Amino acid sequence: MSTSTPPPAVLVTRRLAPGVLERLAAHCEVRHHDSELPMPRAELLAAAAGCSALLTTLDDTVDGPLLDAAGPALRLVANHAVGTHNIDRAACAERGVAVSNTPGVLTEATADMAWALLLAATRRLGEGERLLRAGTSWAWAPTFMLGMELSGTPLGILGMGRIGQAVARRAAGFGMPVSYHNRHRLPADLEQGAGWLPLDDLLAGSPVLVVTAPLNAATRHLVDADRIARMPRGAVLVSMTAGVVDEEALAAALDAGHLFAAAVDNFEHEPAVPAALLAQERAVLAPHLGSATVRTRQAMGDLAVDNVLAALAGGEPPTRVTPPPTAAPPSSP
Ligand code: GLV
Repeated sequence: MSTSTPPPAVLVTRRLAPGVLERLAAHCEVRHHDSELPMPRAELLAAAAGCSALLTTLDDTVDGPLLDAAGPALRLVANHAVGTHNIDRAACAERGVAVSNTPGVLTEATADMAWALLLAATRRLGEGERLLRAGTSWAWAPTFMLGMELSGTPLGILGMGRIGQAVARRAAGFGMPVSYHNRHRLPADLEQGAGWLPLDDLLAGSPVLVVTAPLNAATRHLVDADRIARMPRGAVLVSMTAGVVDEEALAAALDAGHLFAAAVDNFEHEPAVPAALLAQERAVLAPHLGSATVRTRQAMGDLAVDNVLAALAGGEPPTRVTPPPTAAPPSSP
């Protein structure tokens, strides 16, 4: 009878980019939910039992009961996302379980998407497409479907982490002066000429605002009805992080004509999208596509696996999330 130790078990809760799993499978017993849909909770709890690592997505709630179902072998929760709001990090810390995410590799793709949404919202692309596809009669006219011009317009960024900085870099090509709000002012080399403002001043001075602040206890609904009302009438708001902008308040501000247009990439209760937003012609709505490019999803998968392999080898996961959370206003990702 063989006395060799079995390889550590790793649960992967979603289908990943091609080739990513093979690297894991060379070192571990991989339990794979090979699907584009989230793992039902009961299956997640059962499959986690005895695992040394969980490779999770934002749809998996990682809480005390899941950690306990996994048991004492668990060393790492490797989230396939830059965000970690699906993870009870205090519960992980209490059990000595490390947490990692996938920062950096998704920055450029996500900033590109912020700009795609900004352009689509300001130039009314969603509306225009719907009009053509509905077969509505139309004619070019000097007053037909006029949008807002971005060139030279001040841009506000709420959350000047890596993604916010990448959004700001792209603004140079449009000649847009950039202001931002973060909990802490950035060093000058990271500001790249952007000016720090208190939150309410940023809102009041931003005809165009991109929200990239991460979701945490301090940022949930930070941009609520009162704060949207501080933005100039006719402003455009792009939300790249679920839960930071109050979606009902956003829909109401569009409905009232206070905002010219808005765009949302991540939703607070995915896959549900509020009916009030769906009803707004001036809302450009994307099904959480920020990091959805072939190159970036490959890099995110590879980085999540790098973290798992490092933890299983007894080392430090390269993008471990530290320290455990406190209620903190916007800073990264
Ligand atoms: C969002 O999609 C993330 O990666 O946190």
